[in-house]
Amino acid sequence: MKNFEGKVAVVTGGASGIGFGLAERAARSGMRVVLADIEKTALDEAAGKLRDAGAEVLAVVTDVAKWEQVAALRDQTLAKFGGVHLLCNNAGVSVGGLTWEITQDDWTWILGVNLWGVIHGIRAFVPGMVAAGEEGHVVNTASMAGLISGPMMSAYNATKHAVVGISESLHHEFGLVAPHLHCSVLCPGWVDTRIADSERNRPAELSDALDARSMPNFANADSVLRQLLRAGMSPAGVAQHVFEAVADERFWILTHESFKPMVTARFEGAVRGANPVVGSLF
Ligand code: NAI
Repeated sequence: MKNFEGKVAVVTGGASGIGFGLAERAARSGMRVVLADIEKTALDEAAGKLRDAGAEVLAVVTDVAKWEQVAALRDQTLAKFGGVHLLCNNAGVSVGGLTWEITQDDWTWILGVNLWGVIHGIRAFVPGMVAAGEEGHVVNTASMAGLISGPMMSAYNATKHAVVGISESLHHEFGLVAPHLHCSVLCPGWVDTRIADSERNRPAELSDALDARSMPNFANADSVLRQLLRAGMSPAGVAQHVFEAVADERFWILTHESFKPMVTARFEGAVRGANPVVGSLF
């Protein structure tokens, strides 16, 4: 899709971070924008900013982990704008810890948002995009954690590897049965967002979180993570990569050059039968 003017973009997790960067970029490209997010205050603020800049915006409070809410998002989108051209399944949360200590609620929460959120987005919107026959693109936000697996992040890694796999299948399926559609998978390294404060959006019914203090060897992991994020790429920089990839119909969006050698080492090691080594993630 090279011409964005007047087309419709849906961005989940659109109220902050990478999602807002994508929404801002979509609006600047002349798109009509649907912002979906679980956080109402941030959502209203984000929608206000885009409207002040002259964009036509629909903001819908949505928990992407819940099918009925994503289906309602689709219905409201179609009622207001009549179709969708760019679908960004982006909402995500982060949970850390030793694999065997991550709680049942942690797993349920992160699988719900990062994995089911993407599945719900695809199931709700793609059938209409296929039927419409118009040029369209799906961007699923995975992560470098969809291509390499650091320690203490297995729940997050599991969701992001799954998103890469789903996206790859979707890419092939579009080629087979819906050549007017394309798919990209976004795999960034560190980006300066509020992902380290994901807990702000944890549902009350999934409150049994792993207590970080039970990880004495990783006592400073949170502050190191925050430093890396602060020094990371801007959401606007990520959006630049995404819009270039959409225009070029490019599947892989690996925004951070410095991570690529770790990806190569991981897959080459697998083929050679060499055991994984921890790269310099931190
Ligand atoms: P963020 O925390 O700034 O933004 C995430 C957005 O998703 C927030 O607006 C939040 O309210 C929303 N959200 C959370 N749970 C939701 C739910 N159940 N339903 C709907 N919306 C929900 O974090 P960031 O970094 O912008 O995250 C966006 C995506 O980028 C995530 O999928 C994340 O895993 C991914 N990512 C982030 C990286 C980083 O370094 N920040 C690196 C690689 C991937």
